[in-house]
Amino acid sequence: MNYIGSKSKLSKFIKAEIKAVVGETKDKIFCDLFAGTGAIGRAFKLDSKKVIANDIEYYSFVLNRNYIGNHERLDWHEHIDELNKLDGVDGFIYKHYCAGSESGRQYFSDENGRRIDAIRQKIEGWKNTKYITDNQYYYLLTILLEHGDAVANTASVYGAFLKQLKRSALKPLWLRPIPFDVNDAEHEVFNADANEVIKEIEGDILYLDPPYNGRQYGANYHLLNTIARYDNFIPSGKTGLRNYVRSLWCQKNSIEDSFDSLIKSANFKFVFLSYNNEGLMPPETIKQIMSKYGRYEVRETEYQRFKADTNENRNHKAIGTTEFLHVLEKAL
Ligand SMILES: C[S@@+](CC[C@H](N)C(=O)[O-])C[C@H]1O[C@@H](n2cnc3c(N)ncnc32)[C@H](O)[C@@H]1O
Repeated sequence: MNYIGSKSKLSKFIKAEIKAVVGETKDKIFCDLFAGTGAIGRAFKLDSKKVIANDIEYYSFVLNRNYIGNHERLDWHEHIDELNKLDGVDGFIYKHYCAGSESGRQYFSDENGRRIDAIRQKIEGWKNTKYITDNQYYYLLTILLEHGDAVANTASVYGAFLKQLKRSALKPLWLRPIPFDVNDAEHEVFNADANEVIKEIEGDILYLDPPYNGRQYGANYHLLNTIARYDNFIPSGKTGLRNYVRSLWCQKNSIEDSFDSLIKSANFKFVFLSYNNEGLMPPETIKQIMSKYGRYEVRETEYQRFKADTNENRNHKAIGTTEFLHVLEKAL
């Protein structure tokens, strides 16, 4: 998934730096507190005693509940075949987010919107009748979110849709299996505010990758929450927005307090914070806050980030940014 702030391309750098500081991680509890797509928790799933993942957004919980929470082999072949054979239906997505229903919105082609509805309804029906387990439920939802996102008619996020259906949005939605790592360890996945979850957990390595700027994830990925929740609400405005969480980490006036109180409450020996040079908190402020709680250092790497243009060709401009990994060895 093309996700704002995704660390999938930086995961090698981050993992190597974490290991350089803490040494062997196989016997340690690793927490990814702002997990997003789960890229960093996934990098430690086979290389830690346990992963704890959390994100305030429900779609992210679904992804992490699958990629991190699922650790035993699952039966999915027949389910995916059956979902791919379904005829589309006029459900919530078609009614509010496709052009054919005269919703005035075009986030998906009519065919794909109707297929998302049919698949989503079937998955829920299977869950309600206990035809599938919770593990299978989150696996199938993840596959729908990932492949649904791939045929979305947007430039990159769901803050706007394109006027014309672009080429990838015209491709028929087709579900395919997506692997996750299998291991013996049980992991834990939360869907709550980081500042609340931190009071409930403890471990060895805490990895923090909060939002850097004012772009709220709940607004930019509202359709992923709508597909994941598949609840009934009145979509608002031109983009069909749902009510969304306004994270304090996206607001200049609250971020420093949120950060300080999180670090203070953290019951982890090592804390790592990813933050780039364009963020709301300047590096000096981060240093000053982290240094209050133990030994601080910072590591950095140059990184070519891709920023989507808003035009229909989904051109991506490469932008050079410095990605900082702030490190705290906490005096517990
Ligand atoms: C930079 S992204 C994380 C990206 C992730 N590391 C990845 O590779 O996909 C920041 C994440 O923080 C989440 N978030 C924002 N405010 C939060 C809060 N108060 N508590 C927990 N998660 C929050 C967002 O939903 C978003 O997924």
